[in-house]
Amino acid sequence: MSVDESAFRKAMGCFASGVTVVTACTAEGQPVGLTVSAFSSVSLRPPLVLICLGDRTSNLESFRRGPFAVNILAESQRDISTRFAEKRDDRFDGISHAPGENGAPVLAGCLATVECDVHDVFTVGDHDIIVGAVTRVSGPEEAGPLVHCRGQYAGLA
Ligand SMILES: Cc1cc2nc3c(=O)[nH]c(=O)nc-3n(C[C@H](O)[C@H](O)[C@H](O)COP(=O)(O)O)c2cc1C
Repeated sequence: MSVDESAFRKAMGCFASGVTVVTACTAEGQPVGLTVSAFSSVSLRPPLVLICLGDRTSNLESFRRGPFAVNILAESQRDISTRFAEKRDDRFDGISHAPGENGAPVLAGCLATVECDVHDVFTVGDHDIIVGAVTRVSGPEEAGPLVHCRGQYAGLA
């Protein structure tokens, strides 16, 4: 039985998640990043995480090659989430950031940042599951998390 795409999207949208901006650098050293909610911890020993990126993600090769950083957004950063999900070339303009230990941009004001080397990449359906071997973590900060559910942003309060 085939599943209606819109029904599937709506059902998945009920699953509340945190929001991250995943960053990397192109081969030419340009910072790139996009908003990602498909992020999960995978393993403690060794520390592994995963992100899922659509196969039409621009700069997908930069993320598949790594290294990359997962910047976990605070409730006050919904503008950053919106900006990094828009089709624009100036996502980093005016956003305070610095290279992490692995070179991928670390955004200021996030709850925590997880820096990774690429451990594995699996192409599954129309997404790539990129498993990251964690090389460094920073944070956590005290602020509340940005939450996304049913197409809306919220905090935990
Ligand atoms: C809250 C939120 C969560 C998102 N999560 C993902 C995700 O997990 N994976 C993904 O590939 N795109 C996700 N997107 C969509 C991308 O951020 C968006 O399509 C972005 O423009 C892709 O980057 P690109 O334009 O550089 O290809 C999400 C967007 C929003 C607003």
